[in-house]
Amino acid sequence: MSNRMWGGRFASGPAEIMEEINASIGFDKRLAPQDIRGSLAHVAMLGAAGILPAEDVAAIEAGLKSVRDEIEAGRFVFKRELEDIHMSVESRLTEIVGPAAGRLHTARSRNDQVATDMKLWVRDTLDSLDQQAADLQRALADTALKHAGTVMPGFTHLQSAQPVTFGHHCLAYVEMLARDRGRFRDARARLNECPLGAAALAGTSFPIDRHATAAALGFDRPTANSLDSVADRDFALESLAAASICAVHLSRFAEELVVWTSAQFNFVKLSDGYTTGSSIMPQKRNPDAAELVRAKSGRIIGALTGLLVVMKGLPLAYSKDMQEDKEGTFDALQALSLCLAAMTGMVKDLEPNADVLARAAGSGYATATDLADWLVRELGLPFRQAHHVTGRLVGAASAKGVGLEELSLPEMQEAEPRITDAVYAVLGVANSVASRTSYGGTAPDNVRAQAQSWIERLG
Ligand code: ARG
Repeated sequence: MSNRMWGGRFASGPAEIMEEINASIGFDKRLAPQDIRGSLAHVAMLGAAGILPAEDVAAIEAGLKSVRDEIEAGRFVFKRELEDIHMSVESRLTEIVGPAAGRLHTARSRNDQVATDMKLWVRDTLDSLDQQAADLQRALADTALKHAGTVMPGFTHLQSAQPVTFGHHCLAYVEMLARDRGRFRDARARLNECPLGAAALAGTSFPIDRHATAAALGFDRPTANSLDSVADRDFALESLAAASICAVHLSRFAEELVVWTSAQFNFVKLSDGYTTGSSIMPQKRNPDAAELVRAKSGRIIGALTGLLVVMKGLPLAYSKDMQEDKEGTFDALQALSLCLAAMTGMVKDLEPNADVLARAAGSGYATATDLADWLVRELGLPFRQAHHVTGRLVGAASAKGVGLEELSLPEMQEAEPRITDAVYAVLGVANSVASRTSYGGTAPDNVRAQAQSWIERLG
C-alpha cells in the first residue's frame, strides 16, 4: 500500500529497507507534545485568519487534544509505515475527526513543522539545563563557603605549584558554570524565532498570520526568510556546542575527582552513595559516577561533530539528511542533564580530607614563590634575582631532603646574607594562602566573600 499521507502518485509502498531507513518515528515520537502544541497554534491561526471554517477548527482542536491524551496515557500505537511524528499525529487525527483533519496541513509543511518542534524541544531543554547548572553552582558555592580556609595544593602541569584553598577550587567551577549558563541563555535567545508558516521552503499563498503563531508558541518573532527557516539547524548546533563546553568542564572536574579519590592522592572521600565496589578486589571503591561524567563528554562532543558534518554539505533548503539532527541532539542534551545531576550529587556528598590536603599543600616547595616575594618585598631584590636565590634554597633543602622552613637561618644566609628570621612567617601554607588577597586570589577571606556573594546571587 502506498503511503496514505503522500502516496497519491505512488502505485505501491516502499521497500522494507526503505521504510526502515526513512522512518524517524522511533526517535521523534518524543516530539509529540511539541508537535501537537504547534498544530494547535497553527489551526487556531487558520481559523482566526478565515482560512478554515470555525467548525473544522473546533473539530481539529478537539481531535488534537484526544490524540495528546492517548499519547500521554500510553494508548497511542506508533506505526513505522507512518514515518514520523507529524504523519502519525495527523493520521490518528483523521481517524478521530474524519476528512476535516486533512485541512490542518493547509499552509504548512513537515519542513517548517519539524523545525518548530525541534526548536520548542531544545528551548525547553536549555531552560532545564540552565536550572540544573544553577543547582550545581549552589552546591559548589555551599562547599566553597564551608571550605574557604581548607588548604590544598594548587597545581600547574599537575605538579604542586602554590597552595590554594579547597573553596577556591570549587569556585573556579562556579565561574565556568556561569559562562555555560550564559551560553545556554544566548542560544535560547537566538533560537527564539518561529519557523512555522515558512511551509516547504518558499512560504505560502494563504493569508496566514505568522506573528500570531510565533506569539502563541512563545517565540519572540517569526523567522524572516522561509528558506533559512527550514534549512537552519544552528539552534541545535549552538546548543550542542554550549553543551559540549559544559561537558568539558564537568569532565575536567570528574577527572579531578577520579584522581583525588585514589589511594595515592586521598584528597577527598566519596561516600558509598557515589562509589561502587569491585566484584573481585574487596578493598576497592571506584568513582564510577565521576568516570561516567568524564566519559559522557565524548558522546556530547560527538553529537556536535556529527551534526556539523551532516549540515556542512547541504544545499538549501531542507534535505532528509536533517532528520539525523534528532538522535544526537536528544541523546547529548539528556546526557548532559544526567551529568549535571550526578555532579551535583557528588559535590554535596564529597568530604575533603583536610589533613591530607594540608600536608600535600606544604610539600613540593609549594611556598617557594612566597619566599621569592618576601625577598622582593623585604630586601628590595629584583624579582629575577629573588627567583634565583629561592632556587638555590630549594636546591639546598631538596639536597637535605627537608622543607624550606626546615633550613636554618645560617643556611638561608648562605644564599642571601640579608635574610632574617622574619622569613619563616611566610613559609607556612596558611601564611601563603592568607597573603593571596589580590582580587580573585585564594585568600580565605576572599573565598568566603565570593562564596557568600554567589550564594546570594543564586538564591
Ligand atoms: N521526519 C522528518 C525530519 O525529521 C520531517 C520532515 C520531512 N520532510 C520531508 N520533506 N520529507 O526531518
